[in-house]
Amino acid sequence: MEKVRIFDTTLRDGEQSPGCSMSTAEKLVMAKQLARLGVDTIEAGFANSSGEDFESIRMIGQEVEGPMIVSLARARKDDIDRSAEALQGATNWGIHTFIASSPLHMKHKLQMDPGEVLKAAVKAVEHAKQYTSNVEFSAEDASRSEPTFLVELFSAAVKAGATILNIPDTVGYTMPDEIYQLVARLKNEVYQSDQVMFSVHCHNDLGMAVANSLAALRAGARQVECTVNGIGERAGNAALEEIVMSLATRQQYYNLTCNVIGEQIYPSSRLLSQITGASVQPNKAIVGANAFAHEAGIHQDGVLKNALTYEIMTPQSVGIQENNLVLGKHSGRHALANRLESRGFYLNEEELNEVFEKFKHLADRKKQIFDEDLDVIVTQGVRQQQDDYILDSLTVSSGTHMIPTATVGMIIHGERIKKAAFGDGPVDAALNTIKEITNIDCRLIAYSVKSITGGTDAQGKVSVTIEKDGMRITGRGADTDIVTASALAFINSINRLSRMP
Ligand code: KIV
Ligand code: ZN
Repeated sequence: MEKVRIFDTTLRDGEQSPGCSMSTAEKLVMAKQLARLGVDTIEAGFANSSGEDFESIRMIGQEVEGPMIVSLARARKDDIDRSAEALQGATNWGIHTFIASSPLHMKHKLQMDPGEVLKAAVKAVEHAKQYTSNVEFSAEDASRSEPTFLVELFSAAVKAGATILNIPDTVGYTMPDEIYQLVARLKNEVYQSDQVMFSVHCHNDLGMAVANSLAALRAGARQVECTVNGIGERAGNAALEEIVMSLATRQQYYNLTCNVIGEQIYPSSRLLSQITGASVQPNKAIVGANAFAHEAGIHQDGVLKNALTYEIMTPQSVGIQENNLVLGKHSGRHALANRLESRGFYLNEEELNEVFEKFKHLADRKKQIFDEDLDVIVTQGVRQQQDDYILDSLTVSSGTHMIPTATVGMIIHGERIKKAAFGDGPVDAALNTIKEITNIDCRLIAYSVKSITGGTDAQGKVSVTIEKDGMRITGRGADTDIVTASALAFINSINRLSRMP
C-alpha cells in the first residue's frame, strides 16, 4: 500500500478560524500532541505575520521531534527569510511558499499579470531552496485557476526546485469529480511530475473538503493538508480525523495508508477544543459526542448482538476510552498521570506536580473529578504560563439588600494591583473592577455560563466575547465559583487581546 503524507495545518490555517487563536505555550502543547498523533508535517504558523507566530514556529522547531516543521511564506523574500530564520537549527524543516493563480486573485488582489506571478513564484522557490531542500509551492485558489496556467506555473516551480506541489481549493468551491480531473491532469502534464509529490488543501465552504481531499488522493495526490476537528478559515479545512479514518475503514477501496495513530485522534481532538475553547458539534463524524452513541432501540439491540451491525469502526480505534473512572481526593499522582495521558496530556515531573496541587485543591471543593475537570485544570495552567494579566484574588459581596461590590487583586507584568468597584450583580462588579485595574477600554458583547459536568458542585465554564476596535475576542475560564470563572474568562480575553499583532 502506498503512503499518504498527513500535513497538519491546525496551528496555521486552523488558528485563522475565528476565536481559535492560540498562545505560543498552547501551540507548543498542541504541536507535541500532533507529533504523538503521527502527522508527517506540522505547519506551525506564518513566521512573518507576527512576532508571536515567529516565536511559536521557532520553539516548535526546536522542541518537537518527529514531524517536519514548516512555516508559511508568501512568494516574497522577506517572508521566506523570516521563515528560514525561525527554523534554522531545527532538525527537520521546510518552507511552504504560495502565490495566487486564479484570474480573480491575480487581477484584483495581487494586481499582477500571469507572467509576473510566474516570475515571483520561481524567484520565491529558488530563494527558499537556498535555505532548505524541502520546499512546497502552493498555487492559491488553484481550483478556480486556468488549468493550462497551472501546468505552466507548477512546471516552473518544479524547475526552480519545489518538491511538493500543493493544489488549494481555497474557497471550498470545487466538487470531487472536478478535483479528481484536475489532479490527474496536472500529474500528466506538469514537468517531471513523477519527481515531485502532489498535495491538496481543501476548504469546507460547501461541506466538500474531506470528499474532495479523498478524491484527490484517488487521482494520485499523496499529501493531504488538514486540521484536527476541521477548524480553519470560514467553514474550516478538511478534518484530519475524517480523512484518516476513511483511509483506515475503507482500506480496500483506497489501498492507501498513513502514519497517523488512530488511538491518538480523540485525545488530539479534546486537547484542541480545550485549548481553543471551540467545542466540537455533537454529531461531528469520528470525534463528536454522538459519533458512537446509538439512540434507537433497534440500533441498540443490533449493537448488543453484534457491534458491526451499526458500527463501522470502534470507539477504541480512535482513542475513546469507555472507562470513565472518576477521581477524588484520595486518588494518587499515578492515577492522575494515567488519566491525563488518556486525554492527551503528557506532563513532565514539574508540570505533573503543579497539576496535582490544583487537582487536590479542586478535590477539596468537589467530590468527584471528571475528565472534563482535568482538561480545564491543565489547559488553564498552560494558558496562564504566558499571561501578562493574572488574577491574584477576588472577593465579592452581593445579596438582596446591598449593592454588589467586588475587590479584585491582579498581577500585571509582575506588579500587584488591587481595586474595588460596584456593579449590577456580582459578575458585573468583578468585571467592572478588572476593567478599572487594566484600563482596557473594551465592550463585552457576549457572556455565557455552562456547567462542565453534573451536580451543584460542578465547575462553571464561562465564555466571554469582548470587542475592541472592531475586533472580537473570546476568553474562557472555569471554576467551582462562577464569579471567579467569569473573572478568569474576562482576563483570558484581555490576555488574548494583548497578544494580538
Ligand atoms: O487556502 C489556501 O489557499 C491556503 C494557502 C496558503 C495554502 O491556506
Ligand atoms: Zn487554507
